[in-house]
Amino acid sequence: MTILITGAARGIGRGLRDAYLAQGQEVIGTCRGPAPDHGAWLSLDVRDPAAHREMALALGGQPLSLLVCNAGIYPDKGQRLGDGFAATDWADAFAVNVTGVFLTVQALLPNLRAARGRIAIIASAMGSDTRAPGGSYIYRASKAAALNLGRNLATDLKPDGIAVGIYHPGWVRTDMGGAAAEIDLETATAGLIARFEELAPDTTGRFLAYDGTPVPF
Ligand SMILES: NC(=O)c1ccc[n+]([C@@H]2O[C@H](COP(=O)([O-])OP(=O)(O)OC[C@H]3O[C@@H](n4cnc5c(N)ncnc54)[C@H](OP(=O)(O)O)[C@@H]3O)[C@@H](O)[C@H]2O)c1
Repeated sequence: MTILITGAARGIGRGLRDAYLAQGQEVIGTCRGPAPDHGAWLSLDVRDPAAHREMALALGGQPLSLLVCNAGIYPDKGQRLGDGFAATDWADAFAVNVTGVFLTVQALLPNLRAARGRIAIIASAMGSDTRAPGGSYIYRASKAAALNLGRNLATDLKPDGIAVGIYHPGWVRTDMGGAAAEIDLETATAGLIARFEELAPDTTGRFLAYDGTPVPF
């Protein structure tokens, strides 16, 4: 069965793709720009509805056992309340982190239905309303919205047997996480893959960290 991962050319998406390929799984990665290697890649800018339609056409009904909505951006990292958080950054972050997730799920629903597949949304503990240390308003709000999206998709897709999980990958050493982050890519991806394996109709709608710890909404 085939796994599709958005934003798989670098960072956590790349780590997940490499780990699944090492297990012998069939993986399709999406990327922007040229394919990074000779594997299975589809071109996708998650902001672009036409690109989603083209991706669905290219898949031609191929069943998907797992969709990982991983592509994301953090444009307001380090910005200050007094002079940061431009409207364009708000628009960009929501286009990728929220609308992008929704359009991907919507475009691939027939493929997921064909396999009773699962959907993993890579959100962030920074989207928790309970934990609110301040700052990063754009990223936090967009990841809170991604969590909300995942929770409601879990409800709507339950009758189809499609489970939806929402995940915090940890603070991971990637371009986004930076060199000072807490965990390496291998720890994050191994944890996430274990969580995706547990994802089933009776665990749908959960918001978990890579190590299985529930993240407060
Ligand atoms: N790293 C962390 O500590 C951390 C913590 C919590 C949550 N997360 C989440 O984990 C996910 C992956 O993060 P990461 O650390 O791997 O980030 P990253 O290293 O910055 O990689 C981001 C990935 O998203 C893709 N992407 C960005 N905009 C896109 C668009 N418009 N269309 C399609 N793909 C797009 C990038 O593709 P290009 O190469 O084309 O730009 C890249 O593959 C994100 O959703 C992030 O919010 C990360």
